Amino acid sequence: MLEVPTVPTMPSTSLTPQPPAEAVAPLMRGLDVLRSLTAAADGDGTLALADLARVTGLARSTVDRICATLAHLGLVRLDGRDAALAPPLMSVANACLDALRVPGLLGPLADELADELDESVSLAVPDGTDIRFVHQVLRRRALSISFRVGDALPMAGCAPGLVFRDDLPLAVDDQLVEPGLVAVAVPVRGPDGSAVCALSVVSHTSRHAAGELAGAVRGPLEACVRSMESVLDTSSYASGLCPGPPASIAGGADLGRAPIVSLARGLTVLTVFNAAHPALTLTEIAEATGLARATARRALITYDHLGYVTREDHTYRLTPRVLALGCAPLSRTTLPRIAAPHIAALSERLGESVGLSVPDGAAVRCTARVTPRRVMSVDIGVGSRLPAADTAAGRLLRDGGELAVADGPEAGLRSVAVPVRDRAGRVVSALDVTAHQGRGDDAAWAAELTGAAERIAADLHVTSRFVTVPVH
Ligand code: PHB
Repeated sequence: MLEVPTVPTMPSTSLTPQPPAEAVAPLMRGLDVLRSLTAAADGDGTLALADLARVTGLARSTVDRICATLAHLGLVRLDGRDAALAPPLMSVANACLDALRVPGLLGPLADELADELDESVSLAVPDGTDIRFVHQVLRRRALSISFRVGDALPMAGCAPGLVFRDDLPLAVDDQLVEPGLVAVAVPVRGPDGSAVCALSVVSHTSRHAAGELAGAVRGPLEACVRSMESVLDTSSYASGLCPGPPASIAGGADLGRAPIVSLARGLTVLTVFNAAHPALTLTEIAEATGLARATARRALITYDHLGYVTREDHTYRLTPRVLALGCAPLSRTTLPRIAAPHIAALSERLGESVGLSVPDGAAVRCTARVTPRRVMSVDIGVGSRLPAADTAAGRLLRDGGELAVADGPEAGLRSVAVPVRDRAGRVVSALDVTAHQGRGDDAAWAAELTGAAERIAADLHVTSRFVTVPVH
């Protein structure tokens, strides 16, 4: 038999000091699983359960129970032998990004700067010995930069890091991160004079040499910083609080029925922070989560120990490290990928072909489809284009409305489609069932499609609150 050598991996918790006695061990292990999925090599937030056990150093049975708990909460999807981060986990990152205030207040100005310069622009905040991106405006797809909201870089290895580490008025990254990548970063200061975030313009040596980039972008960059600083001065940034209902991660999931109740309860603490409540007391957190005070307190002790919250006087704040819990892989996704598990589930339920489409000129283009295997099956591949008039999806995207039906795309076929809407209520795709005529009932299909479209839209909305999700 072949001996397969295993590389011993240290449990990452051994790098941090001993946890306090009151820390919640199952919560620590659950966070370790989420962090490991986020850091998974492919960057898509998926790992085999066996690999998850290996990288965390946890027993396989423990990993299974943790993942069952996370799946119960809708934060992870179990797919055969794999565990994958699921869009509802983005509510944790959203709470953090909202409570940080920077992306919401300064993101629109960063977007304008990117338009003006036609270069990528980002906002980053310090996170221990790293920086973490909290806003990204990507330009130039041919040479696209792969960092996303939630990604971290070591301070010494990038322009925003040098700004924070050495308190510089301007820092240049001359291919520190990657050959060809050049960046200029400047600090954006809050009302108290401290650097709140770094604004970077990122380019490529084919367009700008590092030494020349700063000169080329200086004017618009400085004007943008001035606008950002005046937003920070005039907004409630420093003092911060206005009323608003804190939401909770549980979203109706019954915490008491989760396989590991203390993990499920502990995670709810992260999502009660928001722009209106960036700093909360223990009492407020217990009230907003519905947890017993002692339970909330032990969760906060755990988060404090691991660097996910900071405590000042009697209030707690989330740190940018919370973005290490799923944000970057989830912010790399696309609508077809978000929709895929919902399409597969509906196709299986109906036993029919279910697909997603976008408009493409006068045609409609398929972006995702699952077709059950049978002797005669619908054959529309991802990427295929059909005249809009020939399909329900095409008619829906062309004419609007809540439902469209069509006999087609070929003789003997029938299709029914409903819209999928973005956060602003705009129709961004059509979801359809396409089958041989006479096999199903339009009204029943429409009801099933509407339910699935709502679930897809809910995942899209939570994912796209602070990041742009491509529709194809
Ligand atoms: C970015 O991707 O936004 C980025 C990369 C490297 C830097 C600065 C910004 O030095």
